[in-house]
Amino acid sequence: MTEKQTWSQRFESALHPAIARFNASISFDIELIEYDITGSQAHAKMLAHTGIISHEEGEALFNGLEQVRQEYRQGQFQPGVDAEDVHFAVEKRLTEIVGDVGKKLHTARSRNDQVGTDTRLYLRDQIQQIRQQLRNWQTVLVDIAEKNVETLIPGYTHLQRAQPVSLAHHLLAYFQMAQRDWERLEDVYSRVNISPLGCGALAGTTFPIDRHYTANLLHFDNVYANSLDGVSDRDFAIEFLCAASIIMVHLSRLSEEIILWASEEFRFITLKDSCATGSSIMPQKKNPDVPELVRGKTGRVFGHLQAMLVIMKGLPLAYNKDLQEDKEGIFDSVNTVKACLEAMTILLQEGLEFRHQRLATAVTEDFANATDVADYLAARGVPFREAYNIVGKVVKTSIIAGKLLKDLQLEEWQQIHPAFAADIYEAITPRQVVAARNSYGGTGFLQVRQALVNARTQLSVK
Ligand code: ARG
Repeated sequence: MTEKQTWSQRFESALHPAIARFNASISFDIELIEYDITGSQAHAKMLAHTGIISHEEGEALFNGLEQVRQEYRQGQFQPGVDAEDVHFAVEKRLTEIVGDVGKKLHTARSRNDQVGTDTRLYLRDQIQQIRQQLRNWQTVLVDIAEKNVETLIPGYTHLQRAQPVSLAHHLLAYFQMAQRDWERLEDVYSRVNISPLGCGALAGTTFPIDRHYTANLLHFDNVYANSLDGVSDRDFAIEFLCAASIIMVHLSRLSEEIILWASEEFRFITLKDSCATGSSIMPQKKNPDVPELVRGKTGRVFGHLQAMLVIMKGLPLAYNKDLQEDKEGIFDSVNTVKACLEAMTILLQEGLEFRHQRLATAVTEDFANATDVADYLAARGVPFREAYNIVGKVVKTSIIAGKLLKDLQLEEWQQIHPAFAADIYEAITPRQVVAARNSYGGTGFLQVRQALVNARTQLSVK
């Protein structure tokens, strides 16, 4: 704003320069420019369609807006803080291009329904992009799972070795989380894709507009039924940020596992040089920066969700300037989720290797087959709780003797309980321990193979 320029004729003096900067959103809402132009083009068409302006005027506005788009794409149009926000910036440039008719664009519209429209158009695009990224992520998970049905890995509860599982089963757990994320975003999309355009500042407009016409042009599924709600609703943003947060929870959990697996304590994976970094002082180190960053970035997305909830909780109807604060959180969450999904997909696809030898050893060096001994007795008529207590005792004496269950002699087994026979050894091999868990959704190889088939079917749904 030049020094003498007032906000409008209603004002006597200009904004204090610091207040102008404080008020302006152009530095970040420029992200919406193409959506703003598209929305305005639909609005201009509707104004002509309903006879509110002439067809020539409508065309002039449409083409002028297209020129603004091209100028922006070619870097010739770079609005500054004097424009306040992207909506004013586009309108001002349009009027420079097409002359006075440009001043008709804002007929029967407010920046309140305009910014709501822009944000929804933006989010709609981004949701589709993120859903596609989730599909890529799921595909990589299934690809690796398919190669590792028979690779065994210790399974944990309380981060204590519990029972061995198929590595494919472990990876498919993350597939399922991503599947829910993909479905959840589809659901969020259905409420993002509703048009507030034509709600005006808050109460509708005196002009004979056609809201369904613009909604159709912009491929919205529906229009807001209540103008006050239409301009002030940000539920769709809260829902998106919630879905984004849950995606980050999932990526962060796997990140944590990868960080553990890469440690000397676990040694389940090796990080490849393309996805790991060194230390500036300790020459021996190879650090899992990618999963650490994903885990770390999770916090900011949660923060944006919290901020959005707090922005909304005390807002009286309808539009309040507080709502300008929705954008940076939305943009940053979108960018963060996309960057993390991309990085994790690359990391899993080509940035790490499972250490098969080490995994094969890991599943034999503990008492993770103790449940199977109890199950063995229970299957032979011993009440499970009794069998559980017997095996607990065996584990205790074995630990003292420095032995594993597989090292016990048949006579020792039979002293513990006469139901034990020679087939106990086969029953407690890690492979058999895994194979035997053939209940629906379990880690048994048959179940995992079926789960892989189901996963491929789910992936075929676009
Ligand atoms: N930059 C504003 C925002 O992001 C646009 C809407 C302004 N509306 C108003 N009544 N001041 O929310």
